[in-house]
Amino acid sequence: MAIERTLSIIKPDGVQRNLIGTILTRFEEAGLKIVGGRLQQLSQAEAEGFYAVHKHRPFFGELVSFMISGPVFISVLEGDDAIAKNRDLMGATNPKEAKPGTIRADFAKSIDANTVHGSDAPETAAVEIAYFFRSIELV
Ligand code: CMP
Repeated sequence: MAIERTLSIIKPDGVQRNLIGTILTRFEEAGLKIVGGRLQQLSQAEAEGFYAVHKHRPFFGELVSFMISGPVFISVLEGDDAIAKNRDLMGATNPKEAKPGTIRADFAKSIDANTVHGSDAPETAAVEIAYFFRSIELV
C-alpha cells in the first residue's frame, strides 16, 4: 500500500464542541500520523476558494456560511492508504447514511454540520493540502 497524505478539516461544529482531541485520537489510533496542523478562522474568500468545485451547487452558500461560523482545525494526515482510511473513519457525507462507529455517525448533526472534511482522491488531496500548507510547514 502506498504512503499518502490527505487533508482533514475539523469543521466549526467539531471545534465548538471540543472534539479536536477525540477526532485526532481516532486518526492516530488508526495509524495516521499528523504531519501538520493549525486552528484557523476562515474568511469568506478562503472558504469559497477551498470549496470552489461546489460553487454552482445549491448548497454552496450555506456550506460557506457554516464553514466561516467559527474556527476550524486543519491538518494533514499521512499513512498507508491515508485518503481511503480517513474517509472510512469519517463515514458518509450525510450523517444519516454514515455507518455506526464513524466520526459523522457519532458526532455530526446534519449534512452541513458534518464535523469533518477529508480529501476524496489523490489529485484533490494534493490541491487541498497546497491550498492551506507550504511544504516547509509539514514534517
Ligand atoms: P465536505 O466533505 O466538506 O464537502 C462538501 C460539503 O458540502 C460536504 O462535506 C457537506 O458538508 C456539504 N453539503 C451540503 N449539502 C450537500 C449535498 N447535497 N451533497 C454533498 N455535500 C453537501
